[in-house]
Amino acid sequence: MLTLTIDGRDVQAEEGKVILEVARDNGIYIPALCYHEEVAPYGACRLCMVEITRRGRRRLVASCLYPVEEGLVVETNTERVVNDRRTIMELLLARCPDLAAVQDLASKLGVDKTPFRLEDKKCILCGLCVRACEEVVGVSAISLVNRGTNRQVASPFYEAPDACIGCGSCAYICPVDAIGLEDIGDTRTITMPNPRMQKIEFKLKKCSKCGKYWAPEKQLDYIAKKAGLAPEEFDICPDCRD
Ligand code: SF4
Ligand code: FES
Repeated sequence: MLTLTIDGRDVQAEEGKVILEVARDNGIYIPALCYHEEVAPYGACRLCMVEITRRGRRRLVASCLYPVEEGLVVETNTERVVNDRRTIMELLLARCPDLAAVQDLASKLGVDKTPFRLEDKKCILCGLCVRACEEVVGVSAISLVNRGTNRQVASPFYEAPDACIGCGSCAYICPVDAIGLEDIGDTRTITMPNPRMQKIEFKLKKCSKCGKYWAPEKQLDYIAKKAGLAPEEFDICPDCRD
């Protein structure tokens, strides 16, 4: 264990943790849109910037990437941090003015308008969906492609990706609900926030006991193969198995 100071409070932390995790463990709020404990940090949104003092030098760092150190002094609300955060929030608000999650966070941070040109994007490019697909599910069906203003989440050739199993992890992890997921009847439809991509459809498996459609067949085949189970293991839904 090591000791550092956050906003004037001495806190204990395990070595290897990053500032954001330790702040959260201690009930100290730092805004963050591209961080999730289940995937590797990426440092995309820059909302989690804090000011640190190390060997007498002050500087801004992304708290989701910066590992804690003995004696580190962290401040989460200095003028520099607040101004930086405000500008980032204004940029996000200009990029995605219609997203409720962006509006809510902006208002929480005291930002109610933006001086930047308004766009109507649905995705903040946090990369969480891409990392979840690769690191948690293990299929890498989508990626962040292109540079600058053309940066976007996409599948190869913008087509329904073969590798996608329809699990919906991308939709569940997206912090701004940019990915649509709808189960109607025997079909799951996933809609990516990329106008060049068509909706992706998956056939859902029907429970042989209660008749409910409960998971994409492709996802169940993938799990069966990975776990070395017979496909029939998934004939019954989890509710009927109890
Ligand atoms: S779709 Fe959602 S999770 Fe994926 S990059 Fe865009 S905002 Fe992030
Ligand atoms: S949460 Fe740290 S850069 Fe996004």
